Amino acid sequence: MSRSPSIPDRPHRDIDPDLPDNERLEALHGHFSDLVDVNEQLASQLEQAEDRREQLRERVDRVERENETLKGSSLYIATVEDVLDNDEVVVKQHGNNQEVLTDVSPRMLERLEAGDRVAVNDSFAVQTILDAETDARAQSMEISERPQVTYGEIGGIDEQIREVREAVEQPLAEPELFEDVGIEPPSGVLLHGPPGTGKTMLAKAVANETNATFIKMAGSELVRKFIGEGSRLVRDLFEMAREREPAIIFIDEIDAIATTRTESKTSGDAEVQRTMMQLLSEMDGFDARGEIRIIAATNRFDMLDRAILRPGRFDRLIEVPEADQDGREQILQIHTRGMNVDDEVDFDDLAEETDGYSGAEIESLTTEAGMFAIRNDREEVHHEDFLNAIEKIEDDDSSDVISSAGYFYQ
Ligand SMILES: Nc1ncnc2c1ncn2[C@@H]1O[C@H](COP(=O)(O)OP(=O)(O)OP(=O)(O)O)[C@@H](O)[C@H]1O
Ligand SMILES: [Mg+2]
Repeated sequence: MSRSPSIPDRPHRDIDPDLPDNERLEALHGHFSDLVDVNEQLASQLEQAEDRREQLRERVDRVERENETLKGSSLYIATVEDVLDNDEVVVKQHGNNQEVLTDVSPRMLERLEAGDRVAVNDSFAVQTILDAETDARAQSMEISERPQVTYGEIGGIDEQIREVREAVEQPLAEPELFEDVGIEPPSGVLLHGPPGTGKTMLAKAVANETNATFIKMAGSELVRKFIGEGSRLVRDLFEMAREREPAIIFIDEIDAIATTRTESKTSGDAEVQRTMMQLLSEMDGFDARGEIRIIAATNRFDMLDRAILRPGRFDRLIEVPEADQDGREQILQIHTRGMNVDDEVDFDDLAEETDGYSGAEIESLTTEAGMFAIRNDREEVHHEDFLNAIEKIEDDDSSDVISSAGYFYQ
């Protein structure tokens, strides 16, 4: 805060009345110009003070307004849909989806972007912009209009791709097929299989291939510390999907919330149970022919509570197995597409050498091979680079880490 500037001294001059006229005149001249100087200084100080007063007044206004709104009732959550040029924004209130055009202060406007979550009051004035932490719910739900994965990037599981397309894509694209025959398409599809085999990829590819909104939520995100939070998230998830039909809800690592009831009865377990019950009730209350499909994935099928597999819930199970020889060859080819690979590289041989590797492990193998090429000052990746990479990965593995694929899957 700036202090008031010091005021210049008042000019003072004693003039002897007995001085000769010309000297007195000179002295008066000098005094006059001192007065003019001081006057100028004071004028500019006054101007500054007025500016400052204006600023302070604005601030008081703002603080008063903020105070007023803070004293007011609770705020609603909305999403900024669009920021217009004339200091206005379009916000969409969560829950009832009401869209409104509202004024915002220039100060707020600077910080607002389309897509921000904000708190609005009864008259839809934007009060605060919610930061990432306040906005944990939106954060844990990842919405993308179109994930970037295509079926062409998934190797070795063509049969599973076909099944998923039938169960998810077709009911969305051609619901009348199911109506004509008079059957309900599967409610939910559960992808299960060892880690790193392409389950998450597959779910994303389906969403890419349809025009559906893809809402992804990790099961671990649904496991919340606070009572009621997990089940509210599940409710939000389905509500969001209904708002954005056609939509695909993808719950990855569903085992986090749907494991069999354990003996321990801690409150944490009870909360996980509640979350799962909410999921089941959302699924039960679902019109399966609607425009929302549900996909879940897990690599801990053995742990799942069978309740989620009942008809009307996850009633289509698709096992995504570890890749076989042909599959591995395809995956190798997919992940080396963008690489500068020597013609001599024998993928068939590499597929044999990588028996037991998951898709994810093959992907890191190709990167590792590229590293060997760089280390050898080459721009082209040779067969031996792949072999070196395999050797390195196996050395690393044999230390203390149990190779992930197949660990849970005997
Ligand atoms: N069948 C496959 N074809 C091509 N790439 C694959 C395949 N499977 C896995 N990958 C590679 O491994 C990465 C991880 O795959 P993904 O996340 O789909 O595995 P996941 O089955 O969901 O594993 P987890 O059970 O651990 O979640 C992918 O990004 C991809 O690069
Ligand atoms: Mg996954």
